[in-house]
Amino acid sequence: MAFDIEMIKKVYSQYEERINAARQVVNKPLTLSEKILYAHLWHGNATEAYERGSSYVDFAPDRVAMQDATAQMALLQFMQAGRPKVAVPSTVHCDHLIQARDGAEQDLTRAKNESSEVFNFLSSVSNKYGIGFWKPGAGIIHQVVLENYAFPGGMMIGTDSHTVNAGGLGMVAIGVGGADACDVMAGLPWELKFPKLIGVKLTGKLSGWSAPKDVILKVAGILTVKGGTGAIVEYFGEGAESLSCTGKGTICNMGAEIGATTSTFGYDESMERYLRSTDRAEVADAANAIKAHLTADPEVYADPEQYFDQLIEINLSELEPSLNGPFTPDLYTPVSRMRDEAEKNGWPTKVEWGLIGSCTNSSYEDLSRAASIAQQAIDKGLITKAEFGINPGSEQVRYTADRDGLLKTFEDLNATIFTNACGPCIGMWDRAGADKQEKNTIVHSFNRNFAKRADGNPNTYAFVTSPEMVAAIAISGDLGFNPVTDTLTNRDGQEVKLDPPTGDELPAKGFDVEDAGYQAPAEDGSNVEVDVSPSSDRLQLLEPFEPWEGTDLKGLRLLIKAKGKCTTDHISMAGPWLKYRGHLDNISNNMLIGAVNYFNDQTDSVKNQLTGEYGGVPATQRAYKAEGIGSIVVGDENYGEGSSREHAAMEPRHLGVRAVLVKSFARIHETNLKKQGMLGLTFADKDDYDKIQEDDTIDILGLTEFAPGKSLTLVLHHADGTQEQIEANHTYNAQQIEWFKAGGALNIIRRNQKN
Ligand code: F3S
Repeated sequence: MAFDIEMIKKVYSQYEERINAARQVVNKPLTLSEKILYAHLWHGNATEAYERGSSYVDFAPDRVAMQDATAQMALLQFMQAGRPKVAVPSTVHCDHLIQARDGAEQDLTRAKNESSEVFNFLSSVSNKYGIGFWKPGAGIIHQVVLENYAFPGGMMIGTDSHTVNAGGLGMVAIGVGGADACDVMAGLPWELKFPKLIGVKLTGKLSGWSAPKDVILKVAGILTVKGGTGAIVEYFGEGAESLSCTGKGTICNMGAEIGATTSTFGYDESMERYLRSTDRAEVADAANAIKAHLTADPEVYADPEQYFDQLIEINLSELEPSLNGPFTPDLYTPVSRMRDEAEKNGWPTKVEWGLIGSCTNSSYEDLSRAASIAQQAIDKGLITKAEFGINPGSEQVRYTADRDGLLKTFEDLNATIFTNACGPCIGMWDRAGADKQEKNTIVHSFNRNFAKRADGNPNTYAFVTSPEMVAAIAISGDLGFNPVTDTLTNRDGQEVKLDPPTGDELPAKGFDVEDAGYQAPAEDGSNVEVDVSPSSDRLQLLEPFEPWEGTDLKGLRLLIKAKGKCTTDHISMAGPWLKYRGHLDNISNNMLIGAVNYFNDQTDSVKNQLTGEYGGVPATQRAYKAEGIGSIVVGDENYGEGSSREHAAMEPRHLGVRAVLVKSFARIHETNLKKQGMLGLTFADKDDYDKIQEDDTIDILGLTEFAPGKSLTLVLHHADGTQEQIEANHTYNAQQIEWFKAGGALNIIRRNQKN
């Protein structure tokens, strides 16, 4: 579907030269991850070796993918750049806003009605700016990307943490915030801290009930939810080559659950088979021509300990099927120990639902293996104990699975086939009775199982496992059921055993689809109108922020002195607010409502210096804005940690906060503030945090000589008439100072477009 073979060929044509240049500077054999990274340097050939885990490097990704929830603000911002088209191939996928309840058709119709303004906006903005648009029902972003766009050795960013799924086809694919996606679409470089490298050597071969999912469940058990932070996980070995391409996707997908930057596999025959089967023979041929560059240098895998920062070895022949959970994806329990563990921990063993799908496990192979278990249940006269829900990964998978009778098999077990969308995986599941909050157990083939994630019930114990195990356990209705050893009693009272699953890596008759749900953009979008109603409460076109007025900032009121942890979630809360993520003014009503006020230990309660009364943070800030008075936010250590949500920087900017002064910043948030034209400063002496008083008015001096490495002076005017002077540091480089002066990075891009 409009994969860009010319772009891929161009990337491949540069590979040899770029990798040779990298080998020279690194001066040793290269891992696959390093090859892909060095082949995508923004400035071209490598001129220095980067330090893993510390160098910040500019990259030039080949593609951008966005899902419907995060695309809204990314594209509203992109419109500010004034470009006629996106700078790199990009796609939008409508998969997050479709609630699972009654079944595919009814659910899709309902979602289209409820979110029509968002879908229409995304469709029109995509049409205008040269972006491929995948309509609601077309499929889950990462499955659609794997089927259509991922290519070995490529680099992609996506506004969703499971973008990493494309590592199954040998990419370095990384989840980012909307601001990063906007930059890359606008033609700017993308910065990343050069990752560390974790090698996972896979030996042996999967058999019986074990599946690719069990590989990543095991890795998650070893590394825990934090163990992959800042690292790329590179899988290799004979075991890796024995896995299907979509199975590799499953493994990379859940790399997000161990915090990894991304995961990847070297190009092999399984990828070639998948490319050819999904109608991309041209990509396979192009990849074959540079095959040696699409995997690590041979010395690396021969002696991996020398080349990776950490090494893990897993023998697939010994790998047991397993279930991870509840409430965390790294709590690993092999199926043979589940009954004991459940008893010991008081996990309910009666299973209420089995859910198959999500971007993690919704390929044709996944459905076919799970269907083979469902078929056995029918053939052997078993009565299914739990309810079944299936979300196919894409319309292409759904259509083909339907043609081949797989969906009928599930339906014969009374399964509900939901829309080709995220559904329960992102909590978009209107599960009957969930509001009663009863303690209960579900099993699913998804990636995340935090409390409340699937159905909003904090007492739902969710266990993550492979699709075939979901099928077996849902049929048995028993969390402790081990299909490898246990029997089940059928309708006639006979003891029967389920045979291990069988399935097709790829459909024997090939993939098929009538309408994949793709809308190609207009050749010339200049006359396309972007569809945003001025009365919408979910979408709002952005106005450029005002440039700096050219003087020092004087008389700023202290809005809040935040105490302790202040993450992007404290600054811009999620939950019900996500509905407004495309409407900056409405979502700004959540600004800093989660931050604790140092002076009264309360959240969302600050003193309005104009009236002396306490009120909510957004309302107080709006009062200052109405009077044309700027304000300042003061914070503690690691301010803005957590998700890279750009709203946390845009909201204060929109409401008229002029500066954020903290003990230290989380780097991504600091950069986001800079991009929005805000002043992000740190106390030169952290103890000066204690000097900030509730009624302070603050001046920021030195801005007319604002320069890299040169600190600024702040004057604190206290209510008792005294004043103190303190020093504030910053990390703005010359370019970022220009962003500040112009009122934001996008203002500069727009200005350059016009020139
Ligand atoms: Fe996220 Fe959708 Fe996958 S919610 S985890 S992209 S199924």
